Amino acid sequence: MVKKEFKVNPWEVQGEVDYDRLIREFGVSKIDKKLLERIKKHTGELHFLLRRGIFFAHRDLNWILDEYEKGNKFFLYTGRAPSGPIHIGHIMVWQFTKWLQDKFGVELWFQFPDEEKFLFKKDLDFKQIDKYMHENMLDIIALGFDPKKTKFLVDTKNADIMYKPACEVAKRITFNTIKAGFGLSDSDNIGSIFYTSMQAVPAFLPSIIKGKKIPCLIPHAVDQDPHFRISRDVIPKIGYDKPASIQCVFMPPLTGTQGKMSSSEETSIFLTDSPEEVKKKINKYAFSGGQATLEEHRKLGGNPDIDVAFQFLRFMFEPDDKKLEKIEKDYQSGKLLTGELKQILIEKINAFLKEHQKKREEAKKHFDKFLFKE
Ligand code: TRP
Repeated sequence: MVKKEFKVNPWEVQGEVDYDRLIREFGVSKIDKKLLERIKKHTGELHFLLRRGIFFAHRDLNWILDEYEKGNKFFLYTGRAPSGPIHIGHIMVWQFTKWLQDKFGVELWFQFPDEEKFLFKKDLDFKQIDKYMHENMLDIIALGFDPKKTKFLVDTKNADIMYKPACEVAKRITFNTIKAGFGLSDSDNIGSIFYTSMQAVPAFLPSIIKGKKIPCLIPHAVDQDPHFRISRDVIPKIGYDKPASIQCVFMPPLTGTQGKMSSSEETSIFLTDSPEEVKKKINKYAFSGGQATLEEHRKLGGNPDIDVAFQFLRFMFEPDDKKLEKIEKDYQSGKLLTGELKQILIEKINAFLKEHQKKREEAKKHFDKFLFKE
């Protein structure tokens, strides 16, 4: 069989991703039953994103748990490069990160590399980025992170403590490595070549600050792996432990199950969307796995694997496995119609957004508690 081409790197996700092939190419490990059982011992239940294989790969998670079992707690590290408003595809990783924070009672360092998209996108200036960053922070706070255990790092604002460690990293990475790892070329700007050194820093900055090695676990979507593959080689040379990671697949865009949801598309669902906007977008754009006519659908049933409304329920909006399974069966049998399936999703999303938007207002008061200050 001819393999369809796909592409995954931090700047681009294209085509139908073959995740098993990605596991081999990236050299990450699959999260297997044994590891799930091990996690469950500590968390009591498994998050549905783990049960459903959406968080599917890792690096050194067993080591993180070894250390945790010895009483050596890890910290979590994840991030967001502000470049636009937050859409529902973004928050999956962060909801999962919050779950980890709650279950393990650990610190979270959240990086806002405000220079990243400045360097990689032509038409974005720092003024716009600052605005987005502020907005993004409100959405992230609204997800419910513990203010006592969560620290926001902003690259340009915390440059005083980040720049030296970033130079330690940069000194040990060659231009060749960056070209191979990220597909950058001789004609890319030199800021973009340096950038990965900044993304490496939060993985060991808490260890520097606290004066002892603290294990780091990074939840992220698999496209970020090239950053950490490179920094894992470098960080031990600076005297700290390799960060571990737990990685998820991409939430599909509304328009079909290929690629990933992107902020630049009017078809994404943003956290500030009104109920009417959500309804319009889902009805107009959500790719359907249903049949062309009602008669055919009743006879042949729909295909949930390619149906984006179903996939959104699976990824985020129906955490209850039994309910999800019923929807799946009913859709496959033709009992549930595409319009009805979309309606279920619209109601779920709007209920979520209503709560979220309230918490987002609330977050404005707590903003300062999250910003890292030395
Ligand atoms: N590069 C990420 C982005 O484009 C932001 C980021 C920084 C990040 N540090 C991270 C993501 C750690 C995951 C984990 O948004």
